[in-house]
Amino acid sequence: MNKPAKQALEPLASRDLFPTPPSFAARARINRSTWAAQRLDDAARDPLAYWEAAADALEWRTRWHQVLEWSAPRSKWFLGGTLNATESCLDRHARSWRRTKAALIWEGEPGEVRTLTYGQLHDDVCRFAGVLRALGLVSGDRAAIYLPLVPEAVVAMLACARLGVIHGVVFGGFSAEALCSRINDASCKVVITADGGARKGQVVRLKDTVDQALANGACPSVTSVVVLRRTGHEVSMTPGRDRWWHELVRDAQPVREAVAVDAEHPLFILYTSGTTGKPKGVVHSTGGYLTGVARTMRWVFDLKDEDVFWCSADVGWVTGHSYVVYGPLANGATVFLYEGAPTYPGPDRFWEMIARHRISILYTAPTAIRTFMRLGDHHPQRHDLSSLRLLGSVGEPINPEAWRWYHQAVGGGRCPVVDTWWQTETGAIMASPLPGLTAQKPGSCTKPLPGVEMDVVRQDGSRCADDEQGFLVIKRPWPSMMRTVWGDDERFRQTYWVQVKDPATGAPWYFTGDGARRDQDGYLWVIGRVDDVVNVSGHRLGTAEVESALVSHLAVAEAAVVGRPDELKGQGIVAFVTLKDGRPPSEALVEELKRQVASEIGSFARPDDIRWANALPKTRSGKIMRRLLRELATTGRVTGDTTSLEDFGAIAALRPAED
Ligand code: WT7
Repeated sequence: MNKPAKQALEPLASRDLFPTPPSFAARARINRSTWAAQRLDDAARDPLAYWEAAADALEWRTRWHQVLEWSAPRSKWFLGGTLNATESCLDRHARSWRRTKAALIWEGEPGEVRTLTYGQLHDDVCRFAGVLRALGLVSGDRAAIYLPLVPEAVVAMLACARLGVIHGVVFGGFSAEALCSRINDASCKVVITADGGARKGQVVRLKDTVDQALANGACPSVTSVVVLRRTGHEVSMTPGRDRWWHELVRDAQPVREAVAVDAEHPLFILYTSGTTGKPKGVVHSTGGYLTGVARTMRWVFDLKDEDVFWCSADVGWVTGHSYVVYGPLANGATVFLYEGAPTYPGPDRFWEMIARHRISILYTAPTAIRTFMRLGDHHPQRHDLSSLRLLGSVGEPINPEAWRWYHQAVGGGRCPVVDTWWQTETGAIMASPLPGLTAQKPGSCTKPLPGVEMDVVRQDGSRCADDEQGFLVIKRPWPSMMRTVWGDDERFRQTYWVQVKDPATGAPWYFTGDGARRDQDGYLWVIGRVDDVVNVSGHRLGTAEVESALVSHLAVAEAAVVGRPDELKGQGIVAFVTLKDGRPPSEALVEELKRQVASEIGSFARPDDIRWANALPKTRSGKIMRRLLRELATTGRVTGDTTSLEDFGAIAALRPAED
């Protein structure tokens, strides 16, 4: 773990308060009268009772007999409880007046619109679960989902859940290599994909990528590939392996009775980048995960039955799992889904859709907000955004300027903004305003939610003073916490549970990997990662992953990758590369290396800058001096102590590739 980078302490804007407008607060689920300060204290005193009440909002087959069994880092929640996620998300709504309520309103990039009611979504899920069962999947098996953002992506996830099959959604932007390694890590039996998806007016040829991933027996666990027809372009179908979705559902026997699983049964595996070259399969449980996402959906987004909720994330990321699928559907919400690019065909596509579908809650990422801000106020101004009542932000720190623009130009100054801090690992939002209760400060995710104990501490576990930068840790288990890294309990422990301990008891705390400050009002200001993870447009990437993609190129001897601040993307990627003997640097090679990264990981990981180096600066023990490279990438020059350099010449030899 790196020391949090020393930063000039700008004064925290603690007087820059945005209290919730009284008209919002009056109607909010959680406000001063419904949730007196007393009850926040109760949740802090007895978090287990708090979480038990949250779990009561789900549909259980058998009730638990014990809330928590905790022996760090192993947690079990709701012991003895059994349930099926789809009964909470679908069956109970399909039995109620919500049968005819819209569950999903989907818009394709080319403009087609489809609405699925809870009744229809329930039927589709039962039918597709029948397909998966007929393909031989049983509870505990794994299926990979590699689809565009279409209703069938939601259907596929829930159909897996209905059988107790563990889904592993892989974002459609990942390459064949990345897909293949995820399928193999989880030994998936089935891959669910589509011919393609629509993006920026083009077809993203997903099935071709699946074919590449599976070529030459590279994924031996896969017995079947289910292909959804979305774009209609020609794809090759391998006999005996590949089948069309629409043909399979025609003959399917619907699974009316969901398979009840233990509360701890894994609901899904989702891969996320860490500090090594190999992404981690984050495992989430059924009962605890659903409890966390259902509660936060309701409280953080102040969800009401009349809302049309739009979380603009793809289901390939955790945000899509928690706040496109499980959180909203567990609450019987109407979810809006949009397949395509945010500024296609024009810069006002978002605003035009919000006006047309009367969207009331928008949840998006700072990188998108900054892009819209740059495009100009006149785009949101041209549309009727009066349906909006609440705005959310997630994925990276939001700079105060973007926050204010979002609040004013999009929210018209009347919508609270919930800046929600969480991670793939936490499953659900951990720190955020409760919009009817918490005054907001632009750039701060405010405070930990009820039931969550988070703090900013020094390396030795002692509590940081107000405004002192330290490590963000979580001091108590919570229901939606990840259970392990798929197939690697030791890596789970090493990554999150050895860095910081309670100095009084020696008990491990959960290490988030983020640096943060707490101001005198107890508000949290997350600075960003303190490990070798970068956040590019809200997409998390390990620098080691990009490095290993680079060194797989024949010309490359060594590579070191660092993040540098980027006005639009949050962070950009800079790679320092040394070439093998005799290989001359060239502009063509720069392009080749960028392409290499795109094909090993996905095009979102493409480095912004490749810089040549004769050697990489290393400490005497051989560790690459990343701090120095980060500084060089950011400012273009190097300062500070370089005496521990093995190769002093290495510094001088670093120069931009363009030179
Ligand atoms: C990392 C987690 C959580 C869903 C999307 C990203 C950063 C996330 C915030 C926020 C400041 C944030 C952190 C975190 N992050 N939300 N509101 N303010 N930073 O999930 O890919 O697991 O990334 O994103 O650095 O550790 P993820």
